[in-house]
Amino acid sequence: MSITKAVVPAAGLGTRFLPATKALPKEMLPVVDKPAIQYVLEEAVAAGLDDVLMVIGRNKFSIQDHFDAVPELEANLQKKGDQKRLDEVVESSDLADIFYVRQGEPRGLGHAVSKAKSHVEGEAFAVLLGDDLIDESNYVLPDMIKAHEKHGATILALMEVPIDHIHLYGAAAVEKTDDPNIVKVTGLIEKPAAKDAPSNLAVIGRYILQPNVFSVLEETPPGKGGEIQLTDALQKMAVENIAGGVYGVIFRGRRYDTGDKLDYIKAILQIAVDRPDLGPDLTPWLKKFTAEL
Ligand code: UTP
Repeated sequence: MSITKAVVPAAGLGTRFLPATKALPKEMLPVVDKPAIQYVLEEAVAAGLDDVLMVIGRNKFSIQDHFDAVPELEANLQKKGDQKRLDEVVESSDLADIFYVRQGEPRGLGHAVSKAKSHVEGEAFAVLLGDDLIDESNYVLPDMIKAHEKHGATILALMEVPIDHIHLYGAAAVEKTDDPNIVKVTGLIEKPAAKDAPSNLAVIGRYILQPNVFSVLEETPPGKGGEIQLTDALQKMAVENIAGGVYGVIFRGRRYDTGDKLDYIKAILQIAVDRPDLGPDLTPWLKKFTAEL
């Protein structure tokens, strides 16, 4: 069955970005002129997933407000004849059918995903982390959806990282398949030390999950950091070959964790350089700036 629903967990505390995230959710931090989470939604919609469930928590009202229509703002722009800005404002409130569920307490990504159970109604679904931005030039979801059609299994997006960065991610043990871009995942470890990592293949924030994940999550005890880890549930599904086991699509493009300060700055620069309205002025300035460092 084809994938039609996306779940976007956005209820984390964003501690790595304090104090900016004291009152503002990290998913709402602007990347050039749009909040990070809007890029994530646009990616879901581009892959044909226009039913989006956002998992939100305390302090996350601004996410709901952002995707609502603002009639007085629209009327004001209309009156001024500012069609370009009007289109941009309307776009964010017209993107998809958006639903919300509250996590209550941020008890981990696995716990956040478990909140989607009644919304996805027994179907396979995509998960896109709300602070994980993939450049539109290299979206990975279409390949993941194809891999799901082929294998009828859980599909992860895996990216090679330097081994001294693997402790920041879930790491995958893998075996080759007949497709050089797809691997069979035989095990997963959440945030391992480099010496314990089974590979330098890191799990990034895109998943296609089988509905069976919910019963596995229900039995998953808190893991690293006292949180219910999605990685721990997926490890069980990989090892016990539950619901077709777990496969990984190798991602080789540009991706940013906007919840990390350095990656956030890189995302803004890269996206601005690529934009026709900003790149031609920004690029020569950047070159001059770096030459003078
Ligand atoms: P992160 O681990 O990056 O989020 O989770 P965090 O806990 O906010 O990060 P810190 O505090 O800076 O280390 C990845 C995604 O999962 C969501 C986050 O909002 C983010 O989009 N998440 C995480 C939840 O929805 N609920 C949780 O309990 C934890």
